[in-house]
Amino acid sequence: MPNSNSPIGIFDSGLGGLSILSEIHKILPNENIIYYADSQNAPYGEKTTQEIVELSIKNTEFLLKKSCKIIVVACNTATTNAIHILREKFDIPFIGIEPAIKPASIQSKSKQIGILATKGTLSSELFAQNLKKIRQNSDIIEVVGKGIVEAIENNTTQSPEFLKTLTIQLEPFIKSNIDHLVLGCSHYPLIINELKNIFERKVNIIDSGYAVAKQTLNILSSHRLLSHNKNIQKSILLYKNKTSDEALNNVIKRLQLKNIEVVNDY
Ligand code: SIN
Repeated sequence: MPNSNSPIGIFDSGLGGLSILSEIHKILPNENIIYYADSQNAPYGEKTTQEIVELSIKNTEFLLKKSCKIIVVACNTATTNAIHILREKFDIPFIGIEPAIKPASIQSKSKQIGILATKGTLSSELFAQNLKKIRQNSDIIEVVGKGIVEAIENNTTQSPEFLKTLTIQLEPFIKSNIDHLVLGCSHYPLIINELKNIFERKVNIIDSGYAVAKQTLNILSSHRLLSHNKNIQKSILLYKNKTSDEALNNVIKRLQLKNIEVVNDY
């Protein structure tokens, strides 16, 4: 039975959720974390709902075997398509990650907001429900990110070809009057500098990492599951060999992740 000193479990389709791990580690440094990167099955964004649900169940079972006390679904596609099923099936708290459209709509002056996310997230019922209220006072411009997750997993985000396709994808945002761009995929904060460079005007780019970390703290505290460890703890990253070492090292460097032990082909 997990207890307060058990690890926090995090899963994602690959390396993107490390952007969430980084925020969680900042505000909960005394927690052990096990991060499971399902890089073998990445990307999730173009899979069917059933496939996403099956993979999310499998990832949860894996983390439960490691005695995790809470599970953070650090993947927008898995959250929007599967978290309600995970909550019904497993008796453990789950934290999901959803695009931060509400704060964007509150802060926006132009009342035009862009959202960049996967097909799986943008076509989900949960996303459609959340968007209904927001649409009453803001225009939402949606773009499905193509090849971004793959470029991050393959470490090709600096290639001229990738930067060219990224610029083309962002055209609907560039041509519009958006003042906020919501990143609806946990991989996308890993290319925030590349995104900023494409816009010639000021656009606030927001992601959900900090909000997810805060929510994790609140839920652990309300379940009396906060760690009693006094020292800074290590995170363990488990992944299979599909992700290149260069991509992984690049992400770790970009996020300035410390205290992380990487276990390949566990
Ligand atoms: C993907 O695997 O395609 C993206 C994961 C996400 O939606 O955060």
